[in-house]
Amino acid sequence: MPGGVSSPVRAFKSVGGNPVVFDRVKGSKAWDVDGNEYIDYVGTWGPAIIGHADDKVLEEVKKTMDKGTSFGAPCVLENELAKMVIDAVPSVEMVRFTNSGTEACMGMLRLCRAFTNREKIVKFEGCYHGHADSFLVQAGSGVATLGLPDSPGVPASSTKTTLCATYNDLSSVESMLKDGDIAALILEPVVGNSGFIKPTQEFLQGCRDLCTKYGTLLVFDEVMTGFRVAYGGAQEYFGVTPDVTTMGKVIGGGMPVGAYGASKEIMSLVAPAGPMYQAGTLSGNPLAMTAGIETLKVLKQPGQHKKLEANSKKLVDGILALAKENGHAATGGYAGGMFGFFFCEGPVNCFADATAADMDKFGRWHKGMLERGVYLAPSSYEAGFMSLAHSDEDINNTLEIAAEVMKMI
Ligand SMILES: Cc1ncc(COP(=O)(O)O)c(C=O)c1O
Repeated sequence: MPGGVSSPVRAFKSVGGNPVVFDRVKGSKAWDVDGNEYIDYVGTWGPAIIGHADDKVLEEVKKTMDKGTSFGAPCVLENELAKMVIDAVPSVEMVRFTNSGTEACMGMLRLCRAFTNREKIVKFEGCYHGHADSFLVQAGSGVATLGLPDSPGVPASSTKTTLCATYNDLSSVESMLKDGDIAALILEPVVGNSGFIKPTQEFLQGCRDLCTKYGTLLVFDEVMTGFRVAYGGAQEYFGVTPDVTTMGKVIGGGMPVGAYGASKEIMSLVAPAGPMYQAGTLSGNPLAMTAGIETLKVLKQPGQHKKLEANSKKLVDGILALAKENGHAATGGYAGGMFGFFFCEGPVNCFADATAADMDKFGRWHKGMLERGVYLAPSSYEAGFMSLAHSDEDINNTLEIAAEVMKMI
C-alpha cells in the first residue's frame, strides 16, 4: 500500500515516525497491535462522536446484518435516517445518500452547476471537500487567480472553473461573485482541514448575503461539522442557512456514508426525480444506515452538544494555559465536539495564518503526547475531535501529560 496506509492523512509524514497500527477501539480509547492504550482525539476523523464501538450501535448493526449486508433496493432504514437528517438540518428538505464525503461533494458540485446553469465555483484556500479533481486546487499568488491543479493527474481543464478565496475575508469573496457567473460558494462552515479555524459570524452571514445578491448557491460542506458542532450542524450553531449541505462521518456512525441535501426545488433535479445523474451500488446500505440512526438517537438527547463543547473548551483552555506557562506562543478554539490549536501567536483566521505555526514544535509535541498515550491527529493542519465517551478523567490525564510535554518541546 502506498506509504503503508489506505488514506494519506493516517501517515505520520508531517510529524515524523511511523503510523500506529490499531487493533481495536472502544469509547474514548484505542489500542495498538502491541497492546498500548491511547486516549484518542481523532475518533476515526470525526464519526466516533458518541465514542468508539458503542454497545447499542453494535447490537443494532448485528441485528441488521442478520437480514443481509446489502439490498441494492430501497430499505426502510434509508427513510428513517433521511427523516432524521431532514428534521435536524435547517437547509435540508430532501437528501441523497452516498458512500463517502467525497462522493457527496461530487454530487453536490454537479447539482449546483445543473441548478444554476453556471460552471464556475468558488472555494476557500485550505478548505477540503474530498479528492474530486475540481476541488484539488491551490490558490496561486493572487486572490483572483484561477485555480491551478494541486496534484499531478488533475487536468487543468477540471480546475480552471475553480476559484480560491480567502477564509474570513468577504472582499475576496465579493470580487469573485460580482460578475454573476459563479454556480456555488463552497465552504467548511468551521474549518477542520487547515487545523481548526472558526468563521466570524459576520463572515458567514456575509457569504449568505453575497450569494443571495449574485444568484450563487451557498454550500456548507458539513461532512465534518454536521451533527458535531450542534445537532443541526454549523448552520444551527451560527443560525446561517445555506442552500445546499453536504454531510458524512457522523451520519454513518463509523460506517461509510455521505449525503447531500437541499430544498425540494433544488433536489428535484437529482435522478431519477430529475435529469442530473448520480448513483451508487452500495448507497443507502442497511448496515451504514443502522449505525447512523443509532448514533443520531444518542446525539439527539438533550445536553449532548453542551457537554461536548464544555469538554472541548476545558481541553483547549488547559492546553493554551500550559503553553503560555512554558513560554510557547499558542492560539486555539473549539465549537461543539471540534477543537484545535496552533503553535503561533495568532489569531488564525485563514489558511495563510495557519502556515505561520511552528510545525517542528508541533512534531515534538505530537511525539511526546503519543509516547505517553495520547493519540492526536498527526498534523498541525488537522482538527481534534471530542466524543461523549471522553470523561473528566480522560481530559485531566491528557492535561497532566500535556504539562510534561510542554516542558520538553
Ligand atoms: C469537510 C470535508 N469534506 C469532505 C471530506 C471528504 O470525506 P471522505 O473522506 O468521507 O471522502 C472531508 C474528509 O475529511 C471533509 O472533512
